[in-house]
Amino acid sequence: MKIALAAILAYLIGSFNSAYFFTNFIKKTDIRKYGSGNAGATNVMRVLGFKVAFFVFLSDVLKGVLAVLLGRLIAGNIGGYVGGIAVVVGHNWPVFLGFKGGKGVATSFGAIMTISPVIAVLSLIIGIAVISISKYVSLGSIIGAFTFLIFNIIYYSSLNMLIFAILLTAMVVFQHRANIKRLLNGTESKFGQKTNIK
Ligand code: G3P
Repeated sequence: MKIALAAILAYLIGSFNSAYFFTNFIKKTDIRKYGSGNAGATNVMRVLGFKVAFFVFLSDVLKGVLAVLLGRLIAGNIGGYVGGIAVVVGHNWPVFLGFKGGKGVATSFGAIMTISPVIAVLSLIIGIAVISISKYVSLGSIIGAFTFLIFNIIYYSSLNMLIFAILLTAMVVFQHRANIKRLLNGTESKFGQKTNIK
């Protein structure tokens, strides 16, 4: 019962999509109609620039942190893991936005920072390095997620942690399926490319 409550609250926190909210508030439009169609910080950067994207990124990270802390408060350690998964599910498939949200990278980062900060920072560094070299945020996100999983396999700490890492990585890869196709056929947009709102 407590675990279910942690999951529901985290899912609702995740469902508050800041990319959609900020874009709608500032430009009275739906971010999902532009660029990659994703309701996340990278796409907000294409459409509204760095400052707004930074706030979106920060809010998405904070959602992950909040959901894990709340989950732990309600249902202990297991509640933290469940909260971390549920908040990303809410971010990716938000009940308030017809189940079409973001790709869950920043929110996953917030959750893993709260549960496993050292591995989270190492994965972030690898992800940023890939973005700097390739100029593809999607590639950095996918490799960052795999780095997190691989570290969790190498430095195995518990079955819960491993399942948590597998589920988060699987969601990141699944949500990037269109990006993977674009990366393979050379049409993925690079970091810094702008998209104008017509
Ligand atoms: O975190 C999302 C990023 O990896 C890709 O975003 O807008 O290029 O699909 P986007």
